Amino acid sequence: MNDSKAEAATLDNSAAPATVLEPTGALTVETVLSVHHWNEHLFSFKITRPASFRFRSGEFIMIGLQGDNGKPLLRAYSIASPSWAEEIEFLSIKVEDGPLTSKLQLIQPGDQIYLGRKPVGTLVTDALTPGKRLFLFGSGTGLAPFLSLIRDPDVYEMFEQVVIVHSVRRVADLAFRQELESQLAGDPLVEDQALVQLTYVPTVTREEFHTTGRINVLIENGRLFEGLKGEARMDPATDRVMLCGSMAMNKDIAAMLEGLGFVEGSNNKPADFVIERAFVG
Ligand SMILES: Cc1cc2nc3c(=O)[nH]c(=O)nc-3n(C[C@H](O)[C@H](O)[C@H](O)COP(=O)(O)OP(=O)(O)OC[C@H]3O[C@@H](n4cnc5c(N)ncnc54)[C@H](O)[C@@H]3O)c2cc1C
Ligand SMILES: NC(=O)c1ccc[n+]([C@@H]2O[C@H](COP(=O)([O-])OP(=O)(O)OC[C@H]3O[C@@H](n4cnc5c(N)ncnc54)[C@H](OP(=O)(O)O)[C@@H]3O)[C@@H](O)[C@H]2O)c1
Repeated sequence: MNDSKAEAATLDNSAAPATVLEPTGALTVETVLSVHHWNEHLFSFKITRPASFRFRSGEFIMIGLQGDNGKPLLRAYSIASPSWAEEIEFLSIKVEDGPLTSKLQLIQPGDQIYLGRKPVGTLVTDALTPGKRLFLFGSGTGLAPFLSLIRDPDVYEMFEQVVIVHSVRRVADLAFRQELESQLAGDPLVEDQALVQLTYVPTVTREEFHTTGRINVLIENGRLFEGLKGEARMDPATDRVMLCGSMAMNKDIAAMLEGLGFVEGSNNKPADFVIERAFVG
């Protein structure tokens, strides 16, 4: 959106009296810079980044709006932009009647939003031991932390190959598909590394598509390894994994990995794979 359109959107929005948010000890107040609606279930948006805000690529943070009771209404969100970016980006679901997202999906450039001061999370390279191939398994909005990681140069220093797998129900749920299919063409920092080291595997489980199996099925039938260097199986000697999906997906794939000898890691004890829930419920 160009500046004049962004300004118009802000002015239109001001027709309904906008709530002025106040920072707290745990929250800063930021400004929405742009919003992109992917479909009726998904949107992404960028907000200002306070100078003091530091995070590691892959972490999540609390964000929110003012609730009906006048208090901050907050939810956990993975940061979709890399740690070096000037703006902070998020990818969001639109839950019908969801306390936060029924309002959040209406935000426009110029609106205010709460941002937590303390990012946390386990989907960080610090929680993994070194390896050759990094597999990023995400479903739905579980793609978000991986969008951050694949734009971080450190990831390409640490791993020879980076494979980002996005499992969704419908083709229209493949947010950021174009950027990912282009292997991040035009990215100011990782364009060259991504062209050689990044592989994008989208899979659609409830519509026709070139790849249609759940992630565990792609592992089992070998489709995941097409075009990759190394063995056509998951191997804890060379492979590291990050998982971000529904509880069911995380549980099933973690069990599969553990069966293959992979050990779960954490910030305090780096190992072969790490897990974070894309949402609760
Ligand atoms: C560590 C962590 C990171 C998260 N990161 C993101 C993120 O990057 N983007 C994002 O959209 N959400 C993310 N979430 C979920 C987010 O915190 C909220 O649940 C979501 O914004 C909906 O808020 P709500 O108040 O509208 O509904 P809620 O009352 O929070 O949720 C209502 C129901 O909607 C469903 N639901 C909630 N979130 C999702 C989702 N993301 N995908 C599919 N179904 C969902 C669940 O069934 C849930 O019980 C994350 C959650 C956790 C724990
Ligand atoms: N297109 C939509 O209708 C749509 C889009 C977004 C959100 N929503 C709503 O949001 C909620 C969650 O939907 P979502 O699509 O984000 O998440 P989801 O139901 O978890 O599905 C996302 C992807 O994960 C796969 N998956 C689910 N369980 C798995 C498991 N145990 N192992 C491996 N893969 C697994 C799904 O495959 P399967 O298809 O085989 O289950 C799908 O490809 C739902 O309440 C839904 O109504 C709906």
